[in-house]
Amino acid sequence: MNFQLSEEQELLQKSVREFAEAEVRPLAKELDETGHFPRELFQKAAALGLTGIAVREAEGGAGFDHIAYTIVIEEVSRCCASTGVILSVQNSLYCAPVEHYGTAEQKGKFLAPYARGEKIGCFALTEPQAGSNASALQTKGVRHGDAYVINGTKAWITCGGAADAVVVFVNTDPAKGEKGITALLVERGTPGFKVGKEEKKLGISATACSELIFSDCSVPVANRLGNEGEGYKVALSTLDGGRIGIAAQATGIAQGAFEAALKYSQERVAFGGTISQFQAIQFMLADMATELDAARLLNRKAAWKQDTGARFSMDAAIAKLFASEMATRVTHKAIQIHGGNGYSREYPVERNYRDARITEIYEGTSEIQRLVIAGWVLKS
Ligand code: CAA
Repeated sequence: MNFQLSEEQELLQKSVREFAEAEVRPLAKELDETGHFPRELFQKAAALGLTGIAVREAEGGAGFDHIAYTIVIEEVSRCCASTGVILSVQNSLYCAPVEHYGTAEQKGKFLAPYARGEKIGCFALTEPQAGSNASALQTKGVRHGDAYVINGTKAWITCGGAADAVVVFVNTDPAKGEKGITALLVERGTPGFKVGKEEKKLGISATACSELIFSDCSVPVANRLGNEGEGYKVALSTLDGGRIGIAAQATGIAQGAFEAALKYSQERVAFGGTISQFQAIQFMLADMATELDAARLLNRKAAWKQDTGARFSMDAAIAKLFASEMATRVTHKAIQIHGGNGYSREYPVERNYRDARITEIYEGTSEIQRLVIAGWVLKS
């Protein structure tokens, strides 16, 4: 067992940290306040290869492994959680399934320009009545000759309002339930496809999280990703990789809050000394550092397993469950250490606290992660 990052991974970490400090951190507060989707920042990230980190170079990606992917998402999220999840969706929820399940023709059109970051992709599974219970999705895809005609509404689609293409999950044979689900690629501008309302949220406000509405939207059969009826597997296997991305996002948010609290504790004077001299504060810092280390290690283990090609559903669920709940605890303590200032928008930790909360919900709630883990535990 070797916990040392490779030279290549260390170099990547260093360059992404420099990028995030120089380009991402200065915008984080404004993005939170305005909810403006950071398209220019996305293009700068693309220039560094961060929009297709683990996609093969031959497909337009940067060709790194998934440990490198966790490093990138953590470093970016340490400065801005919205930008972190935008990159996570691009990498794990859009590029990964197209790379894995796409035909050569689909990859030319729907992968390479996205891995290079010239275009933005998103993933549309959730519906107003089907969140955790994803297999209950109601959006229909009815085959008419060489096309599928899509009708239905997707909800809570991260990057939905900004994306050029979407992997959308429809039911092509409702009588078969989850075995009737099929994945289709739909481009923005396709007649019958429009973006609905954008969600106003507690945190990660700059993600263009939107409804997507399909009304008699016709897409060619050539846009089907994988086989008819295999869409649920496409969705769940994709979410395994996505959950590693969200665990990295949670770790990054918590790391940012921890560093802010550590710094504050060494500057703030009370009762004749800096508050870092008091055990009450030291114990909080110690717990935060311990939990951060554990979350990062669990996540790198899951990413390592993904790179071996073995099934990593349980590892990803464990990493996401722990990292997301850890992020809520750590950001909570970061506010506590800041006292009243922690509750103020003058300091970043209240944003960290709001941003952390979603990591326990999207890409499978903590309860869903526990179900997945319990399923594997009981099987073993
Ligand atoms: N690889 C290959 N096959 C897989 C797989 C994988 N990683 N995961 C599952 N499968 C297969 C299973 O083997 C099974 O196949 P068979 O029927 O042939 O045996 C099939 O897929 C169904 O799997 P399960 O029986 O395990 O699925 P389930 O119905 O029991 O799953 C659930 C239930 C765990 C609740 C699942 O529906 C789930 O994860 N729900 C949560 C949905 C979710 O995470 N939504 C997030 C939306 S996206 C989002 O949030 C994006 C964003 O904004 C950032």
